Amino acid sequence: MRGVLETRLAFVEGGLAGDHLRLHYYKASLPAPWRQRGSKGTSMIIKTNADVTPAVLAEMARADDPRMREILTSLVKHLHGFIRETRLTEQEFQQAAAIINRIGQKSNDSHNEAVLISGSLGVSSLVCLLNNGDNGNTETTANLLGPFWRMESPRTENGGCLLRSPTPGTPLFVEAYVKDRDGRALAGAEVDIWHCNDEGYYENQDPSQAEMNLRGKLTTDANGKIWFRTIKPIGYPIPLDGPTGDLLRMLKRHNMRPAHLHFLITKAGFKAHISQVYSSDDPNLETDSQFGVTERLIGHYVRHENEPAPYGGVTGPWYSLSFTFNLDPGEPRLPRPPITDKSKQPPPKIERLVRA
Ligand SMILES: [Fe+2]
Repeated sequence: MRGVLETRLAFVEGGLAGDHLRLHYYKASLPAPWRQRGSKGTSMIIKTNADVTPAVLAEMARADDPRMREILTSLVKHLHGFIRETRLTEQEFQQAAAIINRIGQKSNDSHNEAVLISGSLGVSSLVCLLNNGDNGNTETTANLLGPFWRMESPRTENGGCLLRSPTPGTPLFVEAYVKDRDGRALAGAEVDIWHCNDEGYYENQDPSQAEMNLRGKLTTDANGKIWFRTIKPIGYPIPLDGPTGDLLRMLKRHNMRPAHLHFLITKAGFKAHISQVYSSDDPNLETDSQFGVTERLIGHYVRHENEPAPYGGVTGPWYSLSFTFNLDPGEPRLPRPPITDKSKQPPPKIERLVRA
């Protein structure tokens, strides 16, 4: 670096004066920005590869915010460690940069490729489990938000139905209990529910479904309980047209998510509880493409062949599900709805990969 700068100066000065003595004088009088020391006196002039990490770490220490300083410092340590460990080649570095660029290019108001690939690398699951259940110390019913949550689910009474337009599928009767970490029932908790239809589509990606179909917001009774009727959801494929699809294909993984219901529970004094309850009979339960399934969140959807349904005038086979959520103390801060595009453009039919 230093050599390049000196050569450039020599060229400019030489062109102006053509006088080497004058050039030396000029160089000595310059503040020589390339000679300035980095933070804490660390030189930012690199001699060998061993100089790079300390030089960058010293600069990270300039961040005023202590948490940002901690994150940046750790990021540099692990990133540089990863490059050393793998002896990343120049060509591989260019490929990595292209993948990161493509993640951004694939993302828009109706799709977040960064979140999708974070899920398929287990990052989202790890962040969730470290931040819930007493910060990772106890089992938790918290889980991933997923892309399809909407803010204004229709208010639904207990015993009500989530179907807003004719929706094929096997009826499902759900009762859910909301408790604190010590098992005390939480009355008056708001429970937002959403799920896909029996073709794997959420209403905000499917013009054939009514607005807010298969969504509802219920309030727990004095026993911390809600109950409602809907249809049993089905597993669905995640998109393959970005770097996440490339990753899954390379690893010979499938792109399915096992069937699930989404829940978002809020109550004053408790952290907003985001959850999914997975279907115990789903063929992809053990190989979720997003690493979302935890043991605690496997729900037992019980099939009833010849029994009268509890309510709703349902005939024929139906399922029941009973599940209990445990909330952590904290602030009921809501996430930002991941999809802001309201155009309901039907997604292209997504190919289904088979796990080899
Ligand atoms: Fe989902």
